[in-house]
Amino acid sequence: FRLATIALATLVAVTPCSAQTATTGSSPSAATSVRAFQDLWIPPLITGKTFDLALGKSSKSLWPGATTHTYGYNDARFWGPTLVFEQGETVRINVKNNLDEPTTVHWHGLHLPAATDGGPHQLIAAGATWSPSFTVRNNAGTYWYHPHPHESTQKQIAMGAGGLIIIRDPIEAKLALPRAYGVDDIPLVLTSRRFNLADQFTFAGDNDKYGDFSLVNGTLDPKVSLPAQFVRLRILNAEIERGYQLGFSDNRKFYLIATDGGLVDKPVPLSRIKLMVGERIEILVDLSGDKPGATVDLMAYNARQPFGFPGGEPGRSPPNGSYLNNLDFRLLRVNVAAPTAAPITKLPPELTRNKFWSEADATERRTLNILRFGPPNREFAFDRKYYDMHTVNHVVKLGAVEAWTIVNDRTFGHSFHIHDVQFKIVARSDGPVPDYEQGWKDSLYIPRGQSATFVTRFDDFASDTDAFMYHCHMANHEDGGLMGQFLVVNDPATLKPDASGVIRLA
Ligand code: C2O
Ligand code: CU
Repeated sequence: FRLATIALATLVAVTPCSAQTATTGSSPSAATSVRAFQDLWIPPLITGKTFDLALGKSSKSLWPGATTHTYGYNDARFWGPTLVFEQGETVRINVKNNLDEPTTVHWHGLHLPAATDGGPHQLIAAGATWSPSFTVRNNAGTYWYHPHPHESTQKQIAMGAGGLIIIRDPIEAKLALPRAYGVDDIPLVLTSRRFNLADQFTFAGDNDKYGDFSLVNGTLDPKVSLPAQFVRLRILNAEIERGYQLGFSDNRKFYLIATDGGLVDKPVPLSRIKLMVGERIEILVDLSGDKPGATVDLMAYNARQPFGFPGGEPGRSPPNGSYLNNLDFRLLRVNVAAPTAAPITKLPPELTRNKFWSEADATERRTLNILRFGPPNREFAFDRKYYDMHTVNHVVKLGAVEAWTIVNDRTFGHSFHIHDVQFKIVARSDGPVPDYEQGWKDSLYIPRGQSATFVTRFDDFASDTDAFMYHCHMANHEDGGLMGQFLVVNDPATLKPDASGVIRLA
C-alpha cells in the first residue's frame, strides 16, 4: 500500500544521507548499498571564438560496477563542456550530430537571431553539422545549451545532453568576485534519474519525471572540496519536472548575485531559494568562518512541485512514488579546505545597475492561457492549441516592448520559458514578486491557479522561416505540445492568415 511505503521512506529520510538508499523501486545495485561519496565532476571549459561540439552516444559508470548508456557532447559522458563567451565577441559553434537521430542545440537565454537559436526548426540530421555564428549580446551570467528537437527533447536531455555557458562582460570583470572555475567558482547542474533493473535510465514512463537518484553534474553522491572563503556557486535546475528549494544544512545565509540573465543590483541575503526547471542562479556562500576539515551540505528542502500549495498536490504528492519528492535530501557534500592564496573575503555591496522596463513601457499586451484538456502525455497546451511546427501563434513588431501575462489553470504548476529575450517579472497573482526574482529572467514558475506578468523588448528579427519558441520547460510537457512560437517582424500586418485563419510558417 503506497501510503505505508511513503511513510517509511519519510522516516528513513530524516537522515538525509539515507534518503537515496531507502528506495525500493529503482536499480537494486544502487539501492541496496550504502554508497561512498564520489568527487564532483567539473565539466571542462572551452574558450575562444570557435567552438566544436559533437553530440554522441556514451556511457557512464554512475556507481561502481554499473554502466549506464548516456549521451554526451565531446568527451563528456553525461552533460557537456562549459562554453565561455565574451560579451561583444562573434562566436561560431560547429555542432556535429553523431547520434542516429536528429537533434538541435538551443542556446538557452541567449539573445540572438532566430536562425541561430537552435529551436525545433534548426534541425541537425544524424551525421550532419550545424554551424551557427552570432554576436554575444547578453550580460555576464550563467546560461546553458541543450537539445530541442520537436517531441524528443525530454529523451535527449534525460540521456545527459546539455551544457553550461558562462558569459563574461566588463561590468562583472571589474567586481571582486570568485571566478577561478572549479576552485572558488563552481558549476552545479541539478537533476535526477530513475533506473531500470539493468542500470539504464528510464524516461518514457509517467514515473520518470522525478528521479530517485540525485545527480549533480552527473555525479551520484557528490562531494567537493571548497576553500574557506567566499565561494560562487552557479546552479542550474536541469530537471524534467522537479522544483528545488535550496539551502545549507546549517541554515547559513548565502547571497544571490545573479538570476537567469545576469547580475542583480545588490547581493540578496537568503537562507532558502526556489529554483525551478530551466532557471539559474549564482550565489556566494561564505566559508571563511569554517575550519578546514569541516563539512556542510547543500540541501534540497521539500523538493517537489508545485510550490505554493502546502501539503503538495493531491494525488501527486509525492507523485508517482518517487522517494525524493517532498523530502529533504543532500545534493552536495562540501568539505572545507584551506583558503586559496588570494581569497575573496568581502561581499561587494553593489553589483550592477540594471535598467528594467515597466508595464507603462509596454505598447502591446498578450495573455497566454495554460490549459489542461488532453490525454496523458498530451495534457497541456497554450490556449487549447498544441504546438504545431507550421503554425505561427503570435507576431510581434520588431523593437516593441510588450507585457505578457501567463495564466495557469488549476491543475498543475508549470515553468514558462521564452526564447531570445530576458524579461522582468512585474506581477504575480499570488503575492509580491520575491526579492530573488527581481533580476533578469528567461524562465519563471507559475503555480497552478496563478498567473504572472513580465515585460520585455523584442529586438531580434524572426522571419517567416525561423520562429522563436515559448514553452513549458518541463520537457515532457514541451514534447506533449505545451509550446508555441512567434515571429518578430517590421510590420506584423503584412503576415496574413490563410483561409482557416492561421498564419503559416513558410
Ligand atoms: Cu531551455 Cu526552449 O528551452
Ligand atoms: Cu508544464
